[in-house]
Amino acid sequence: MSVRIRESEQRDFEVVVWGASGFTGKLTAARLARRSREVGGLRWALGGRNAAKLESVRKEIGEEIGFDTSSIPILVGDSADDRFIAELSRRTHVVCTTVGPYAKYGSALVAACVANGTHYCDLAGEAHWMQRMIDRYQDEAGSSGARIVFSCGFDCIPSDLGALFMQREMAKRHDQRCSAIQFRVARFSGGASGGTIASMLNLMEEAESDSQIMHTTNDPYALNPRGERNGPDGWQPLAPTYDCDFGQWIAPFLMAGIDSQVVRRSNALLNYGYGSGFRYNEAVLMGSGPLGFAKAAATSAVTAGLIAAMSVGPIRRRISGRLPSPGEGPSKQKRDTGCFDIRLRGEHPTDPAKTLWGRITGDRDPGYGSTSKMLAESALCLARDPLTVGGGFWTPAAAMGEPLLARLLEHAGVTFEITG
Ligand SMILES: NC(=O)c1ccc[n+]([C@@H]2O[C@H](COP(=O)([O-])OP(=O)(O)OC[C@H]3O[C@@H](n4cnc5c(N)ncnc54)[C@H](OP(=O)(O)O)[C@@H]3O)[C@@H](O)[C@H]2O)c1
Repeated sequence: MSVRIRESEQRDFEVVVWGASGFTGKLTAARLARRSREVGGLRWALGGRNAAKLESVRKEIGEEIGFDTSSIPILVGDSADDRFIAELSRRTHVVCTTVGPYAKYGSALVAACVANGTHYCDLAGEAHWMQRMIDRYQDEAGSSGARIVFSCGFDCIPSDLGALFMQREMAKRHDQRCSAIQFRVARFSGGASGGTIASMLNLMEEAESDSQIMHTTNDPYALNPRGERNGPDGWQPLAPTYDCDFGQWIAPFLMAGIDSQVVRRSNALLNYGYGSGFRYNEAVLMGSGPLGFAKAAATSAVTAGLIAAMSVGPIRRRISGRLPSPGEGPSKQKRDTGCFDIRLRGEHPTDPAKTLWGRITGDRDPGYGSTSKMLAESALCLARDPLTVGGGFWTPAAAMGEPLLARLLEHAGVTFEITG
C-alpha cells in the first residue's frame, strides 16, 4: 500500500545523501554541506552501510569547507535490508542516492520511496533497470506523490536540459519548436570512477544471461511510456560520419544512448511538446579535413572494439582488474582542471536561416566535479522548489525544468547560452 505525501508533512530530513561514503557520494555530500549554509536551515543527513567511513567523510567535509559538520546525522544500514530502507524513506522528503550499480543495489530503495511518497534522485544510466522500475512502479508513484527522477548527473542533465533550453529559445524567438536537435561534444576532460566502471561491467554481466538487456540499452525509445516506444530516430551509428551542419567529422559518444533515451522520454512526458516527429542525436566533434577523419575513424574503432571486448566475459574480467575499483576515481586536480564544452544545433522546422546554435559548458570534470553539483542542486530542487508535477517517474527536464535550469546557472558552474 502506498502513502500519499503531503508537502507540509514534517519528516526528520529534507534530504538524505545515500551512499555518502562512495566516490561521488562524498563529493555530493560536500557540495550539499556548502549549499546548506547558503540556503539556510537545511535538515539533511548522510547515509550508507559503514559507520566508520561515514564519520570520516563527515569530518573530512568539515575540514574541507571549514566549519563544524559533527552535528550532521549519520544513518547506517544496508541496501538489502528492506526494513531499514523503508524506514529511511519514511524519514526524509528526498533521497539522493549514489549507491550503484543501481541495477544491483537500487530496486528496494525505489520501491520504498514510491510506497512512502518520498522524492528520489540518482545518477542511474542503466536503461534496462530504469525501464523495469518505470513499468513496475509508475502507477503507484502517481498515487503516492513520489517524484522519482533518474539520471541527475552529467548523464543526462546537459542533454535533457539542453534540449529543453533550445526548445524554449526557439519558441521565444520564432514561436516555433526545434524539429531536431544535435548535441555535439566539442571538449571533454575528466576520468571515470570505479563505481561507473562497476555499473558498466554489471550491465555486461547481466546481459550475458538476458539478451533483452542489450536490446533495451540500444532501443532509442526504451524509456518512453509503454505503448509509445517508437519514433523517427534509429540506433546511434558507430561509424565515423561527416556532419555537414557542423562542418566536422563526428565519432560516437559513449553516453549518447542513455542521454538520447532520456531526452525522448522528456518529450513524451511533456505531451510531445517538442513534436511527435522530433529527432535527437549526440556525437563527438573530431575536426575537419583528413586529420578530423583519422581521429573520427580511430575513436569509432576504439569505441566499437571496447564494446566488443567488454561483452566477452573472460576478456572483460581481465581488463576490469586493471581499471579503478569501487571507491576510487579521478584526483582532485583532475576534477578541478576538468571541463566540458558542448555545442547544440536546434533546427527550425521550415526556415534554415532561423536555426539556433547553442552552447553548454561546465567548470569541472563532467563525471564527478560537475555531476556532484548537478545532483546536489537536483536534490535541493526536489526538496525546496514549488514543482508543478505530481508523483511519477520523471526526467530532470520534465520534473524540474526551468527551476533546475536556474539553479544550475547560478550554483553549479554550468552555462546554457545561445551563440547564433
Ligand atoms: N550519471 C553520471 O553522470 C554519473 C557520474 C558518476 C557516477 N555515476 C554512477 O553513480 C554510481 C556511484 O558511483 P561511484 O563511483 O560513486 O561509486 P562508489 O565509489 O563505488 O560508491 C558506491 C557507494 O555505494 C555504497 N554501497 C555499495 N553497496 C551497498 C549496500 N549494499 N548498501 C549500502 N551502500 C552500499 C558504497 O558503500 P561503501 O563505501 O561502504 O563501500 C558507496 O558508498 C555508479 O552507479 C555510477 O555509474 C553516474
